[in-house]
Amino acid sequence: MGVRLGLARCRGIADKVGSHQGIAPTKAWLAPTTMPRMAIQNPTRKPLPIEVRGSASQPLGMSATQFLRDYWQKRPLLIRNAFPDFQAPIEPDDLAGLACEEGALARLIIHDEKRDRWTVKNGPFEEAEFGKTPKRDWTLLVQDVDKWDADVAALLDHFTFLPSWRLDDIMISYAEDGGGVGAHVDQYDVFLLQGIGERHWAISDDPDAPLDFRNDVELKQLQVFEPTHEWLLGPGDMLYLPPGVPHDGVAIGNCMTISIGMRAPSQAELTGDLADFLAERMPEELRYADPDLVPAKRAGEIDTAALNRLRQALPFAAALDRDLLADWFGRFITRYRNAQVAAAPPKATTEAAFDKALDGGATLVRHPYARIAWVKGKKEATLFVSGNAYECPAALAERLAAERELAFDRRPSAVEKQVLLTLVNDGQLGVRKGRRR
Ligand code: SIN
Ligand code: CO
Repeated sequence: MGVRLGLARCRGIADKVGSHQGIAPTKAWLAPTTMPRMAIQNPTRKPLPIEVRGSASQPLGMSATQFLRDYWQKRPLLIRNAFPDFQAPIEPDDLAGLACEEGALARLIIHDEKRDRWTVKNGPFEEAEFGKTPKRDWTLLVQDVDKWDADVAALLDHFTFLPSWRLDDIMISYAEDGGGVGAHVDQYDVFLLQGIGERHWAISDDPDAPLDFRNDVELKQLQVFEPTHEWLLGPGDMLYLPPGVPHDGVAIGNCMTISIGMRAPSQAELTGDLADFLAERMPEELRYADPDLVPAKRAGEIDTAALNRLRQALPFAAALDRDLLADWFGRFITRYRNAQVAAAPPKATTEAAFDKALDGGATLVRHPYARIAWVKGKKEATLFVSGNAYECPAALAERLAAERELAFDRRPSAVEKQVLLTLVNDGQLGVRKGRRR
């Protein structure tokens, strides 16, 4: 055993290890149920195997170059014997001890198979929690184990063919017979190394597999999962999965699985951080500027000249198409420096009451804090009011921007009425009663 960073051993699991019989694997699990469907062509056009055998010198069963070229981020790969004679670097009790540490990220997931109900408990846990676990169908997952345990961290030495900054963490699960987290997809590459005991893995490499989540479970489990491949993994076997491959791992007896996760930032995270980073470095005096301004033709319109000026002020947004840029800017500028926002009225106006009011000569008064802009679209326009966007006929959008109080000498069209009623019910327009009967 190497250096342990203050890990308390937890007896709860040791008492249980070995207390349940593992289920004998069936033959069907030992071979893929169907031929793999290749989502991406390989340059040699020879079908690539989905299962290979590793060795002490080649844990990937091939060179790192070949793995990166043919499998990394492209297709799953099962490597039998990736780590010959593998000994798990951590024991179940140490894992449970870690799950009780302040600051550890741990979850306990229990499946009531009869009712198909899942319970998720978040750590850190009291040691007594492990005494209360059922006989089967539960799993403990602990993230960032590499940060707490030097033996676990040493596993990373086998993954130096990947940039070290691509690594997220090593998550380790301990499960008793039947335990697992259900069928799901991960948004990151993962190497699932079997540590102790056996786990049945089912995956789907069907590129059209449905990815809808069950809405009755806290875990993001798939509503439908139809495996294309199933295997039984023993210690030292490793399954590589690229992002987005549906998978389901079920413990066969007591089982430990070590997940080396390579989470990549989402474009949303990259964009948000880049925007903050750039914003912090931009001087106040660099601003949207319009020294070329000519008198406005239509009140409130964000016209092409304004959008072009925006592109000048935001060179990194040059790739955004007109509609996306306008959609963002319209929402932004109608929120910009607005100290107050209109509150929705306590009681919504019905369409019938609205018709009656309009027939009675009611006018619509713009809330003083409603900031309005609009942009011409392909058909009609998008109206922006205090950060919200509404599809709206262009003529009405222009009127709303131009007039603080709108009077109608004819009943608005059905489409116009819908927009107006929505604005009334959002609190952006108030109804001022008319005198007409
Ligand atoms: C597990 O170890 O139970 C889950 C790992 C995974 O599916 O990502
Ligand atoms: Co997963």
